[in-house]
Amino acid sequence: MTLILGIESSCDESACAVVRDGVEVLSSAVASQIARHAAHGGVVPELAAREHLSAFPRVLDEALTTANVSMADIDGIAVTQGPGLIPALLVGVNFAKGLAMRHGKPLYGVNHFAGHIYGAFLGSRDHELLEDENAYPMLALVVSGGHTSLLLLHADGHARHLGFTIDDAAGEALDKAAKLLKLGYPGGPIMQKTAGNGDKKRFNFPRPLTGAAGKALSEENRYNFSFSGIKTSLLYTLEKLDIAEDQAIEPQLLADLAASFQEAVVDVLVRKAMRAVRDFNVKTLIAAGGVACNASLRERLTAEVPTSVNLLLAKPAYCTDNAAMIGGLGFYHYMADNGRGDGFGFDAFARLPEITAIRFAGRKQ
Ligand code: KG4
Ligand code: ZN
Repeated sequence: MTLILGIESSCDESACAVVRDGVEVLSSAVASQIARHAAHGGVVPELAAREHLSAFPRVLDEALTTANVSMADIDGIAVTQGPGLIPALLVGVNFAKGLAMRHGKPLYGVNHFAGHIYGAFLGSRDHELLEDENAYPMLALVVSGGHTSLLLLHADGHARHLGFTIDDAAGEALDKAAKLLKLGYPGGPIMQKTAGNGDKKRFNFPRPLTGAAGKALSEENRYNFSFSGIKTSLLYTLEKLDIAEDQAIEPQLLADLAASFQEAVVDVLVRKAMRAVRDFNVKTLIAAGGVACNASLRERLTAEVPTSVNLLLAKPAYCTDNAAMIGGLGFYHYMADNGRGDGFGFDAFARLPEITAIRFAGRKQ
């Protein structure tokens, strides 16, 4: 039995988790800072760092207590190294280094993006698919506040990015739209709630880079995303509706705007993912990251993905930022070097590097 302590601080969630053998989540403690950032309409990096600094000792305590273990029982520590907000990441990385030194544990720097994908395998038997050659190629749709990307995973562990967003991420677009509609932060969950009884067909927002408007789609953008045009279109719509800055939007109109906007974002995500599923004869489609919590996206994927394709929708608790996905992925780092660890010299990184291999895929190949 191998117990990995996962630590996550890439954005506005301070999280610690204890995961057994990469599969069983013994605890997943998350302290959200949403209330602290809401007043600013988005995450303020320095504020996030300060919040992490005060939250980590009690979040760690909660994770160990819930798992009913002590630091002595932990075999290794995995911490989010990037991508993310540097001031926020530095707090988690430094906290993890201190813990690892103090308790003599191997420490691993883990990629947050790969962690999100791994999160889709937590909390169910879907984990078994990883070792099933017939479940490949897999396609991961990673949709969060920072990423919108399609990654193809092969049975031999190789991976390839098919496309990214060329401007805003899907979650970022929902957050910005919520701000325009004066709904608050974070936008995704509030937009979903506001869209509840709205008419998603009332406003026909654009579906950029899908070829939907009859515009030819260049090969290089076949799997790329773009969301900033939908946001601009919402801005123009609000201007046309002649709603003044300080004026409240009438509830039905607000619901229709939110529903139509959300529909445009979801439609683009589903079209792009389904195109890649067909083009690459994908056997397993994974949806991960904060936006994968979205009920409308989950419904559309469930309805449209053929029954011959495994559909893995990450559990909501493992969609948004958490440390279970980091502890789970950390297990594969630990196994790969027999618990030696990355040492204490590594730094945090802000941007997503090119991913060419996924540690947890095709483990027995
Ligand atoms: O994965 P995550 O917690 O953090 C990043 O790594 O970015 O994702 C946060 C994003 C935010 O943009 C938030 O608005 C969005 O996920 N989100 C949602 C929902 N819940 C969170 N978007 C749509 N529908 C939701 N239910
Ligand atoms: Zn994230």
